[in-house]
Amino acid sequence: MFITLEGPDGSGKSMQVPALSEFIRSLGYQVLTTREPGGTFIGDQIREVIMRMDNTSMHPRTEILLFCAARAQIVAEVIRPQLEQGVVVISDRYADSTLAYQGYGHGIDLTVLRQILSFATGGLVPDLTLLFDVDVETGLSRRQSGGGEWNRLDDYAVAFHRRVRNGYLELAAAEPARWLRIDAAQTPARVQEDLQKAILTRLGPRS
Ligand code: TMP
Repeated sequence: MFITLEGPDGSGKSMQVPALSEFIRSLGYQVLTTREPGGTFIGDQIREVIMRMDNTSMHPRTEILLFCAARAQIVAEVIRPQLEQGVVVISDRYADSTLAYQGYGHGIDLTVLRQILSFATGGLVPDLTLLFDVDVETGLSRRQSGGGEWNRLDDYAVAFHRRVRNGYLELAAAEPARWLRIDAAQTPARVQEDLQKAILTRLGPRS
């Protein structure tokens, strides 16, 4: 089973990964967790290029292709082989991040993005996508050290994150069988409870 975690910046998804994977292990499954961009030797080098603060002149198309290059590598090298072995794979971000951020956020044509994503992933679609949904102000203030400083961000950043969040909600509404919305404004413990409940309805103890 291939599970992906998606959500805007500051949605708190990454901190939930260790307890979630431990829970799935307790049901008798082998679990592998990965993160994007990166997660392979080659992907980590691509991540560095994407994240470098001085790469300010990076063209949006270059950025998309780099995200997708790192994704192609991790799908081929790690995710597909592990799924074939019956391992439950949890990926912290996947193709839907590109649709939400580059598509809805930056306005790149969604049809074109879907073609690039299908090429990069060889058509691998998650079985379950957990959307960590939180309003933009809460998400951004969680990202600021000390909190409460989100209002110093310029309007563009807030508007961008609003488009990303709405994009996620639209993607989830279009494919309700795959997506599940988690209220990420709750305490971390409550979020973990909701995650475990969601997993239990789809993945019983291993027979
Ligand atoms: P995060 O995983 O710590 O949230 O950081 C990854 C950042 O990269 C986050 O701001 C979302 C962004 N991103 C994209 O814009 N497109 C993508 O395809 C992926 C995987 C991430």
